[in-house]
This record gives sequence, C-alpha cells and structure tokens, in this order.
Amino acid sequence: MQTLFIGQNLVRLASVDSTNNYALQLLKDTQVMEGTLIWALEQTKGRGQRENNWLAEPFQNLTMSIILYPDLTVRRQFYLTKVIALGLETFVSELIGKKDAGSDIKIKWPNDIYVSDKKIAGVLIENNLRAEQIFSSVIGIGLNVNQKKFNGLSNATSLQILSNTVFDLSDCLSRLCEHIEARYLQLKANKMELLDSDYEERLYKLGELGDYEKDGKRFGAILTGVNEQGKLLLKQENGEISEYGFKEITFCGNS
Ligand code: BTN
Repeated sequence: MQTLFIGQNLVRLASVDSTNNYALQLLKDTQVMEGTLIWALEQTKGRGQRENNWLAEPFQNLTMSIILYPDLTVRRQFYLTKVIALGLETFVSELIGKKDAGSDIKIKWPNDIYVSDKKIAGVLIENNLRAEQIFSSVIGIGLNVNQKKFNGLSNATSLQILSNTVFDLSDCLSRLCEHIEARYLQLKANKMELLDSDYEERLYKLGELGDYEKDGKRFGAILTGVNEQGKLLLKQENGEISEYGFKEITFCGNS
C-alpha cells in the first residue's frame, strides 16, 4: 500500500461483529497508531447510519474501519466527512470511470456514495470528543465490491454490477486508502476551500428540486448546499433557505 500511515498497521479479521466496534474497543484498550486499519472479510452485526444494520455478503465487499486523530474542533468536524466522501468518490470514479458506466458518481449528503441513483458505499464516523476537540475518530466504511444481488435493497449497486469486472479486495483496499490519505493530507494542509468546492461539486441533487420529510411532513425543496457545520441547506417554495441536521430530515426522492 503506497500510503504514509493509513493502512500501514493492518488488522485483518476473518469475521467480527462490526469493525467499528472492534476499533472502538481497541482505542479503549491500547495506544493505537494513527491510520490503523481494521478490515474484516465478514461482519455479523455491521452497523449503519440511523441505527440501521449494514448488510454485506461475506468475502465479496469491503467492510473496514480506519482510526484517525484528526486534530479538528467539533465545529469543524464535517471536514472529516468531506475527506472520506471525496476519497471514496475519487476511488469509485477511478475504478469504474465516469464514461464507461455511463454513470454519474455523486456524494449523497452527508457521505454516501451514489452511482446513477444507486448506493455503492456508506460511511459511519464515530468520534470520541474531548471538550471542544475531536480526540479520535473511527471511520467505518462499507463498499459494495463484488456482490451481485442485493435482496430487498432495490437502490444498491456494486463495482462489479457497474463494470462487469471482478475486483481484488485487497487491491481495492490499498487504492481506497491511498485516495483517503490524499484527501486527509489536504485537510492537514488546511486546504479547506478546495475540500468545500470539491465536495459541493459532487453533491447529489445539488440545485435540484426534491421531496424531503421532517417530523412526518413532506415538502418540496431545492438543495442549495451545506453550511460550515455540514447542515443541509434547502430552499423552500417561499424562497427561504433553512438548514437541517442529519437526524432532522429525510430525502424521499425527486419531486
Ligand atoms: C450507512 O448506513 O450508510 C453507513 C454504513 C457503514 C458500514 C460500515 S461497514 C464497516 C464499518 N463497521 C460497521 O459496523 N459499520 C461500518
């Protein structure tokens, strides 16, 4: 792996409940090197956003967690989300090529990766905060690689489905770590404007009218971007722009 630190300390597991749980426990028990990577061929209790399960066929996909010490204030924690989403997006673009798959590779707020309206990767970041600072961060990534059928999940896709190619998991792992590290180094070098513009450029449904739901009420709005804290900015019919946190709003589809 051609990285400085991400993945240099690799813990490869045949099976685990959740790589995020394993990483969180490791942080409690020992001193862990920055960039330590937990990679499991099978997860028996993978966790997703909003208390959902993350289901991935064993040996077919990447299920992994990276431990980072990002030295960010809580106010700026969304930059970590941007870094990971952009690293993933570049990796997927490199592998399937935008043109080849006739596909549109986008970041669905806050950090899912979508290809032509289907989800190929999800991220679960769990931060350990000390006062106003992020002390450590566990970056859980689920990337669909060689899985061909997703029973009951109509909006899921994989690298293999999109490109008709079988991928080597450990090769994918190395390349993904390289792209994530490149973006993480941009964060360390304070390239905030670059991260902001690259993230916004790839934001799924930017400038489009969509259906959203808040507190059981559905409404149409245009996505205009994200603010500094990573809240979603939606322009309502009356022209007013409101901001929403991740737990406050659900995207229901196109109007
Ligand atoms: C989502 O809901 O989109 C986030 C999914 C995150 C899944 C990954 S798989 C590796 C890591 N370990 C977990 O238990 N979850 C994350």
